[in-house]
Amino acid sequence: MNINSFIKNLPKAELHLHIEGTLEPELMFELAGRNGIKLPYNSVKEIEDAYNFNNLQDFLDLYYQGMNVLINVKDFYDLTTAYIEKVHSQSVKHIEIFFDPQAHTSRGIRFETVFEGISSALAEGEKKCGITYRIIMCFLRHLDQDDAFRTLEMALPFKDRIIGVGLDSSEKGYPPSKFRDVFLKAREEGFLAVAHAGEEGPAEYIREALELLDVKRIDHGNAILDDDELTKYVADRQIALTVCPLSNLKLKVVAHMDDHPLTEMLAKGLLVTINSDDPSYFGGYVNENYEAVQKSFGLEVAVLAELAKNSFKAAFIDEDKKLELCREVEEYLEKF
Ligand code: ADE
Ligand code: ZN
Repeated sequence: MNINSFIKNLPKAELHLHIEGTLEPELMFELAGRNGIKLPYNSVKEIEDAYNFNNLQDFLDLYYQGMNVLINVKDFYDLTTAYIEKVHSQSVKHIEIFFDPQAHTSRGIRFETVFEGISSALAEGEKKCGITYRIIMCFLRHLDQDDAFRTLEMALPFKDRIIGVGLDSSEKGYPPSKFRDVFLKAREEGFLAVAHAGEEGPAEYIREALELLDVKRIDHGNAILDDDELTKYVADRQIALTVCPLSNLKLKVVAHMDDHPLTEMLAKGLLVTINSDDPSYFGGYVNENYEAVQKSFGLEVAVLAELAKNSFKAAFIDEDKKLELCREVEEYLEKF
């Protein structure tokens, strides 16, 4: 068996995935047609050519534009179903997906419409494919905290079905401290907290996310290695980082995959997981992310299995389930 077929069949979880970032150009055209929306592109090729980003903001501009085709429950359902079918073919056993309610409510789409489409597809995916799931609602950090509070209010009727709150969008200049109160309220309501931090922003934002927002995982966390004390703190507590290699390359967080901090993170004892972030925009789903780092760093199968086990250890699932899924990875490795 070659290494890519090892990756293909390796049981794994994906913990950092924006469902709106799975919108493939073909589906974008289909939904635009269905909803009578004129796209600024004439072909799939034109869309793909536009996906050349110099930084996070370049990407976000197209990401928010792309999701304008998502209008009805069925659009969100089709988007989510397409993602589930994709990861089902990649041996993904568990997914924890983000959605950005404010990117839709600001366009006049109801929170309920978005949530119903996404959650019904996930429930059906679990029944059909056995892929378990969690839903995390992100606040957009370029908007103000009052907007996040209003979004939290809208989510309360669904709080049994939303495991946590996250923080995403433009990072630099929008520190976690801006959202301290809304995260406090969300935690009081029973939501777990995660936050994007240290993607383009400094290690200080990771520290703030931990100290002020009480996050259980850090999304990205690339900048952590700039701060030895913080690195040790996060490693000692095994607070997971949801790392996204192809995203980091496409958004020029790293100039080359060989410069990615992944192996140094592992060497420092950090609980690192591999994820795809916005696969349609960054040229690969979770397995292509494993493949990219395997190729750059010549990772052995044991390391790939460790990364897969980390994805289960870091998931918001109970301890017995984590053990069972980690055992599956070990058995798979032994057979190999
Ligand atoms: N929203 C979608 N993808 C994102 C990313 N990589 N960073 C911040 N916000 C995002
Ligand atoms: Zn992200």
